[in-house]
Amino acid sequence: MTDKKTPKHVAIIMDGNGRWAQQRNKKRTFGHKAGVEKTREIVEACAEKHIQSLTLFAFSSENWARPEEEVSYLMELFILALKREVRMLNKNNVQLKFIGNIAGFSSKLQKSITDAQTQTINNDGLQLNIAANYGGRWDIVNAANQASLNLAPDELLSEEVLEAELTTKELPTLDLMIRTGGEKRISNFLIWQAAYAELYFSDKLWPDFDSTELDKALEEYGDRQRRYGKTGEQISHETE
Ligand code: FPP
Repeated sequence: MTDKKTPKHVAIIMDGNGRWAQQRNKKRTFGHKAGVEKTREIVEACAEKHIQSLTLFAFSSENWARPEEEVSYLMELFILALKREVRMLNKNNVQLKFIGNIAGFSSKLQKSITDAQTQTINNDGLQLNIAANYGGRWDIVNAANQASLNLAPDELLSEEVLEAELTTKELPTLDLMIRTGGEKRISNFLIWQAAYAELYFSDKLWPDFDSTELDKALEEYGDRQRRYGKTGEQISHETE
């Protein structure tokens, strides 16, 4: 990564914790614990690389359908990780923000979230966004409802007006979306925001996705030509 372009905003679907554990004859929860360790490594790597914004899919609005034991383990893990990782976030000048329907969590977890956000609020390095109880369709409907409150009687919604109400409104445009774990789908993550993002799929399970794997994704991003509907020739002329 020398003179290649670096994405301003990277999003990651951290998939494969369960399979990683099952391959080791362990419970799925063992994989989630390993997943948190890997999350720390990737956050530190992104901070070092001066990526502006990193959005991680930690818990989707559909994940409530998992076995109760796994859901409550994840909730406890989040509370523990939030308490433990604040020091690492401050050391790396990372500002933490949650996006998603936080009101759906227990009051204990909501308090951990608010405390961790408050403790990192003055950091101005990497903006780390944790998508929790998040769904892309929820984000769009929520934004549309919010935006419609301010519309004049005959005024129609525009892309700009709706975008200004999305949970990502203060973040740079999404440049790169990575999914680990071998599946090739977006799973209701940042569906609006991914309209022109580059997609990168890794076969590595999340606990095996280390900073070398992140470098591979960033390298490939640097080599891609983003055309936004134009022709390759037009883009080459613009960059000459
Ligand atoms: C996907 O693996 C991962 C999740 C459902 C979310 C859990 C993520 C972490 C524990 C790491 C992030 C932690 C924090 C604090 C942000 P999976 O269970 O879907 O794996 P599988 O596809 O192999 O079953």
